[in-house]
Amino acid sequence: MRTVVEGVIEAESDAVSTYQELVDLAEDADDPVTEDLAAELLADEEEHLVEFEGFLASPEK
Ligand SMILES: [Fe+2]
Repeated sequence: MRTVVEGVIEAESDAVSTYQELVDLAEDADDPVTEDLAAELLADEEEHLVEFEGFLASPEK
């Protein structure tokens, strides 16, 4: 179970990095619509990441 959760955490971390990059690129390109959308997606993925990191922090069942 731990391995599965670690795999999900890795995927969520990749998603966070990707959306953060998109936010930065959109900001550089002066594209506030894309920036807002990417920021929203980034917040979702950060939430997922925190949630799954919480699973690792809780005792194994
Ligand atoms: Fe996610």
